[in-house]
Amino acid sequence: MSSDEMKKRAAEAALKYVEENTVVGIGTGSTVNHFIDALSRIKHRIEGAVSSSEATTQRLKAHKIPVLDLNAAGPLPLYVDGADEANRHLQLIKGGGGALTREKIIAAASDQFICIADQTKLVDVLGTFPLPVEVIPMARSHVGRELLKRGGQPVLRENFITDNGNLILDVYNLRILDPAKLETEFNNIAGVVTVGLFALRPADVLLLGTPDGVQALKP
Ligand code: A5P
Repeated sequence: MSSDEMKKRAAEAALKYVEENTVVGIGTGSTVNHFIDALSRIKHRIEGAVSSSEATTQRLKAHKIPVLDLNAAGPLPLYVDGADEANRHLQLIKGGGGALTREKIIAAASDQFICIADQTKLVDVLGTFPLPVEVIPMARSHVGRELLKRGGQPVLRENFITDNGNLILDVYNLRILDPAKLETEFNNIAGVVTVGLFALRPADVLLLGTPDGVQALKP
């Protein structure tokens, strides 16, 4: 079974967490795109969605799902998003699509965070996937040097500007044994907007698509 089919399975399984007449927070990425397609089947039963990126907004609008502002809608009962890596504590690396800041905001503003992914995303130790860090443009070199001091190998994501007008440094060579500590440490570097570690606010449930069905993992 392809990883896309496993993503679709996980996305379909997340539908059962959607409650009637609520606003759903929606992440970004290919797995979430499957969720949006599934959500469109029950769009008459929800009030709308809060979007984490321009790409997600476009897809929601294409399905005629109302897109609402978080300030008006929040707090939200449910946030559904993918991940680039997840460990068994449901701590995540996110931001492969560059939407990490808005994703982190919506995750923080939501009661329940359901992460949807194919089984290849589950790892023992986070860090094989390069850790995305969103950076204010004038701080690029400073943040790069600070990340190097901390053992990372930052690489500027070429030809990429985030929806917030910032840059992404993808940090290689990390073996993240204490994700919450590293999240705090990287967040405290001046010029960092967001680090793509979701450890202080991990997922509440990880729905993993596998060839044998969907596994629901809890911390
Ligand atoms: C977007 O910025 C990311 O956080 C995505 O959630 C992550 O990259 C997962 O993407 P896929 O669902 O495409 O694998």
